[in-house]
Amino acid sequence: MKAIILVGGLGARLRPLTLTVPKPLVDFANKPFILHQIEALKAIGISEVILAINYQAGVMLNFLKNIEENVGLKISCSQETEPLGTAGPLALARERLVGRAKEPFFVLNSDIICEFPLKDMIAFHKHHGGEASIMVAEVEDPSKYGVVIMDEKTGKVEKFIEKPQKFMGVKINTGIYLFNPSVLDRIQLKPTSMEKEVFPKIVDDKKLYAMVISGFWMNIGQPKNYISGLSLYLDFLRHTCSSKLASSGNFIGNVLIDKSARIGEGCSIGPDVAIGPNCVIESNVDLSHCTLMKGVHIGGRAKVCNSIIGWNSTIGNSAQVYGLTIIGEGANVNDGVELKGATIFPHSVVKASIRNS
Ligand code: GDD
Repeated sequence: MKAIILVGGLGARLRPLTLTVPKPLVDFANKPFILHQIEALKAIGISEVILAINYQAGVMLNFLKNIEENVGLKISCSQETEPLGTAGPLALARERLVGRAKEPFFVLNSDIICEFPLKDMIAFHKHHGGEASIMVAEVEDPSKYGVVIMDEKTGKVEKFIEKPQKFMGVKINTGIYLFNPSVLDRIQLKPTSMEKEVFPKIVDDKKLYAMVISGFWMNIGQPKNYISGLSLYLDFLRHTCSSKLASSGNFIGNVLIDKSARIGEGCSIGPDVAIGPNCVIESNVDLSHCTLMKGVHIGGRAKVCNSIIGWNSTIGNSAQVYGLTIIGEGANVNDGVELKGATIFPHSVVKASIRNS
């Protein structure tokens, strides 16, 4: 069985991180977004993963060289010369996706995190006998998503409305699909939206079925959800693989620390913190609900809360970073500076405080 991951979006909502690193390679819980998906696909025996890309192809190809070997899975790129939307990339990769076996294949959006219950989805797909399956989740604010109205007993989808203007229901498209090859006959090789153009037609033919996802789900393609998603993901690790989390009297709640990171005396760390490789945390630092990517340096007595600190950035002594501040790669925040809700560009030097409401 094969899978295609849609990795073409520009990641505008994750700027300034995505100004230097393509969205699929931005770290989440100490590994690139895309690796969470690739590992989940490998775990259920997928034989080949195709990445549908349309920009920064060179960076992606470099990354893939290493990953293919480490993960032990065939991974290839299907490169668009213009953005083909969320359905067009399937037409472009048609031959590779279907192959001789003519089996169903998975399609995944690249900016989502969940427990990836893909085996359950295969069983669901085989059982309903339709043409396409989508995984749905219940959320409080469905307006930013594709909303699904379905028959609760059979799962048959009655309506699919992408980002509706008015309230339609709380079940939303998670961006995980399992399609029969015949779905490809509905998609032409041109920019096409799966959600607006393809799903409504499969619904009209009564061949789209939805399965409610088990466990947590989050779209981590924007900072607020990225931080909430980290909390859900670390909690999932606590229940399934707690040895991956840091365990010592000094940590509060769930904390993930790469073994190469150095932590000084008297720090308060947690809950919901991810500290990447080669980070250095000086003494008496306070970290909660935040991510420090590879090579970050945090000065003594600094505080970081509800924020994301990009690769190799430095936070000065006694600085305070909070309120959804996002710091791009290689930035320097001077000693004592306070950043609230700030967006800091890569490689910039921040000398004065910024307090956004
Ligand atoms: N290859 C390629 N080419 N990929 C693309 C392109 C393109 O032109 N445009 C978008 N993508 C990828 C994005 O990288 C992302 O993985 C996925 O397609 C979804 O695209 P977005 O345009 O970012 O959609 P969204 O996040 O606002 O909404 C989608 O995801 C929601 C769940 O998080 C929709 O599928 C919604 O229905 C869904 O609820």
